[in-house]
Amino acid sequence: MAIRPILTVPDPFLKQVSKPVDAVDDELRGLMDDMLETMYDAPGIGLAAIQIGVPLRVIVMDLAGQDEERQPRFFVNPEFTWKSDELFKYEEGCLSVPEIYDEIERPARVRLTYLNYDGERVEEEAEGLFAVCIQHEYDHLEGVLFIDKLSRLKRDRAVAKVKKLTRDAA
Ligand code: NI
Repeated sequence: MAIRPILTVPDPFLKQVSKPVDAVDDELRGLMDDMLETMYDAPGIGLAAIQIGVPLRVIVMDLAGQDEERQPRFFVNPEFTWKSDELFKYEEGCLSVPEIYDEIERPARVRLTYLNYDGERVEEEAEGLFAVCIQHEYDHLEGVLFIDKLSRLKRDRAVAKVKKLTRDAA
């Protein structure tokens, strides 16, 4: 396993639409292991492959609390089959937009299908933080960031702040 650098805005790579995975094999599991380690190191609760520069439809997630045992989850080629009309507002952040947080409204519950770490097809329903996170990560696969859902002014400010932050860190 290895920790990989996380791309931040305004890297144009983050706007790319990721491609479906052909097969869940050992090479892909190696990528998922790296993604998980990178996410834990950041630390974050979700990461899409495009955030480490790999344009494949792969997401890793762990929603366990700080004092809880780790609960890593893997989503390959996720698709939503249903979204609730009911909405839910949550203050989101993103490892590709560090130190920026803002409220985003999304469907409160979703149903999705995906392949897991072993390549098995899973169908399940998500609500609460799980629903927020899977929709946020799915957006990454489509080249969409949570700040794209904010006003242009807020988005421009966020990008400028991250640019300064990464410049100061360099
Ligand atoms: Ni994100």
